[in-house]
Amino acid sequence: MDIVNARLRHHSDYFSINTANGYFTEISMQSGRVIPKEGQYDAQGNLLCAPFVEPHIHLDAALTAGEPEWNQSGTLFEGIERWRQRKPMLSADDIRRRALSTIELLVQNGVQAIRTHVDTTDPTLIGIRTLCELREELRDKIDLQIVAFPQDGLLSFPDGLTLQEQALQLGADVVGGIPHFEYTRDLGVESVKKLLELAQKYDCLVDVHCDEIDDPSSRFLEVLASEALFSGIGHRVTASHTTAMHSYDNAYCSKLFGLLKKSGINFVSCPTESIHLQGRFDTYPKRRGVTRVKELQEAGINVCLGQDSIFDPWYSLGNGKLLRTLDFAMHICQMMGYKDYTKALDLISDNSAKTLGLEGYGVAVGNPANFIILDGQDDYTVLRKQSDVLLSVRRGHIILEREAAKVISSPWIHETAD
Ligand code: FE2
Repeated sequence: MDIVNARLRHHSDYFSINTANGYFTEISMQSGRVIPKEGQYDAQGNLLCAPFVEPHIHLDAALTAGEPEWNQSGTLFEGIERWRQRKPMLSADDIRRRALSTIELLVQNGVQAIRTHVDTTDPTLIGIRTLCELREELRDKIDLQIVAFPQDGLLSFPDGLTLQEQALQLGADVVGGIPHFEYTRDLGVESVKKLLELAQKYDCLVDVHCDEIDDPSSRFLEVLASEALFSGIGHRVTASHTTAMHSYDNAYCSKLFGLLKKSGINFVSCPTESIHLQGRFDTYPKRRGVTRVKELQEAGINVCLGQDSIFDPWYSLGNGKLLRTLDFAMHICQMMGYKDYTKALDLISDNSAKTLGLEGYGVAVGNPANFIILDGQDDYTVLRKQSDVLLSVRRGHIILEREAAKVISSPWIHETAD
């Protein structure tokens, strides 16, 4: 596949990109814009970059909002209650249908790799079984990582630990946890230690729903980071949400950041979910409840963004568009300086790929030819315009092609607005 007139991130020049047998074979700077030859794809000065990565979503729960009841309070805890009502209705066909529809939404918006959490506090483990089957079926089409996620507690739910281990034996890639939801602080700490033991036993990655609460005394992050540091597996460990960090005392945070940096763990923030679920017990002022994305990034700690939910008991909106999530994050976390804009896409691409430990990710000769082309020339424009994905290519094959949106007629059209 030959592409001309593409822009690459952090370059203003035009580039030609060639692929063969599913890999990038040549990336060369053009001396100016060229007229495409027969068979070449004309990127028309638009940005060609690595595909987006969804590092945190719940495919087993997606598209179930209102079934059988809506989450009226908007709290995380009512979300868990509503999900408990929905769980007995789960079947393989039901999960498969909704997961596929959700993956389709993500692919339409430039995603080619997904980490999904799947509830293991269900004695049938139907979610894990179904998603593991789907992962194999879609292996050539999308990278799917499955987190064994004990929604109702690893130690507080009856047989939670046994079910977690069974999920790993069935093929889950990542060990999950939810220490702040265990009955006591002691159980929370013990759950973190247990899940790290499991990760080492099964040679798995780790991704913990950690301190997803406004309680400033919820401090399981320090436990996770220190255990990861002592085990020497920090780069394989992810702390998701960490919304309590929003409410931590700054002096404590200053000390904590030293440990986080040393441990090498990764962070996922889900800003649309957190701004909706957190701060629900505040009157005014009302906390934003989103972790310190900007400060983590400035400290050189890997942080990325996920959607968490699409139309489920915790969050009833969402459309698969990570650029929307990024837009929220830039506002909520006050990352609206020019330098923030120029590297914005890191938060939904490179940083997420690092979190998932994806190999061969990125636009570089020798890597698998996985990329997208967006309707805009750079990070800033793509973010501001909330650009559509015009082309998505996987292993050199087009998996999505879209025409740029165009107004047909209007008395207000006087020039091409960019
Ligand atoms: Fe989540």
